[in-house]
Amino acid sequence: MIRVLGIETSCDETGVAIVADGARILANEVASQIEVHAKFGGVVPEIASRQHILCISQLLRKALESAGCGRDEIAAIAATNGPGLMGSLLVGVCFGKALAYAWGKPFVPVHHIEGHIFSAFLNGDPPAFPFLTLVVSGGHSCLIWCERPHEYQVLGTTRDDAVGECFDKVARLLELPYPGGPSIQRAAESGNPKTCDFPRAMSQAETLDFSFSGLKTAVLYRLREGGISREDIAASFQAAAVDTLLLKTRQAIEQTGARRLVLAGGVAANKLLRTRLAGELGIPVTMPPFELCVDNGAMIAAAGFSRYQQGFLGDTRTRPHPGLKLT
Ligand code: KG4
Ligand code: ZN
Repeated sequence: MIRVLGIETSCDETGVAIVADGARILANEVASQIEVHAKFGGVVPEIASRQHILCISQLLRKALESAGCGRDEIAAIAATNGPGLMGSLLVGVCFGKALAYAWGKPFVPVHHIEGHIFSAFLNGDPPAFPFLTLVVSGGHSCLIWCERPHEYQVLGTTRDDAVGECFDKVARLLELPYPGGPSIQRAAESGNPKTCDFPRAMSQAETLDFSFSGLKTAVLYRLREGGISREDIAASFQAAAVDTLLLKTRQAIEQTGARRLVLAGGVAANKLLRTRLAGELGIPVTMPPFELCVDNGAMIAAAGFSRYQQGFLGDTRTRPHPGLKLT
């Protein structure tokens, strides 16, 4: 059994996990900072990095304890080195490199989106390459062709706001609590999605790129008109956002001939999105369980295991890169 320790600190979740053979979770400790940032309505970068420092050692101790193993049984240490917030990334990368140095283990840097893709390998039914992935999170909305491990082609990406960012901004407009995704989902449950016909941006265009800033502006204008409930706006907004994601995913399946879709990222926790993707695409969809959709160390350990096996290692000179590219 090869155990990899995975560290995730790119944004506002501190994650430390231990995964066996890239597939079986032995420990997955996550400390969310939601409560700390909620009063500001969004992530405050300086506070985020300080919070990571406060809890990371404790999470490591807990992870080793729940996995029932010691340092000698860890084969490699993987950490997210980008993209993300510089201060937050620095904590995970420095902590990971220091551990690797002290324990005499290899250090494996992992791209955050690759981590999300590898969350699909943790649910007991790993997808066979090649496949199409839809990554939807607070920082990204992209369609990625995954030819083989570590060989990716980004088919489409966000031109402005990421879809999760759009959920968060619309929630602020509606005065719903942070993070916006779950709040909007909850409000939408008692709203009518047909109340407003919000735009499905670039639905006619050939491109597989996404654009969500127009949708956010449309919500703002409709709110200013008044005479509509928060729930109806939330439901109509959610319907438009999910419709847009489905539309582009369908287009990508047609273009690539994909026979499987992998869904990943924080917005993959959205119930409407999951139901519609599962029922309307005509190809099987691998969806991580809810707890692996949001940022966590297990997905980084899974991707790290694969990189470790292929010899893609870092060393003490590896640096974090806030704008790291996947390809
Ligand atoms: O992947 P993630 O934890 O962090 C990033 O890498 O960005 O994603 C966080 C995003 C937030 O924008 C949050 O509002 C969104 O995921 N999210 C959701 C839901 N749960 C979390 N969006 C829609 N519906 C949800 N149920
Ligand atoms: Zn993420």
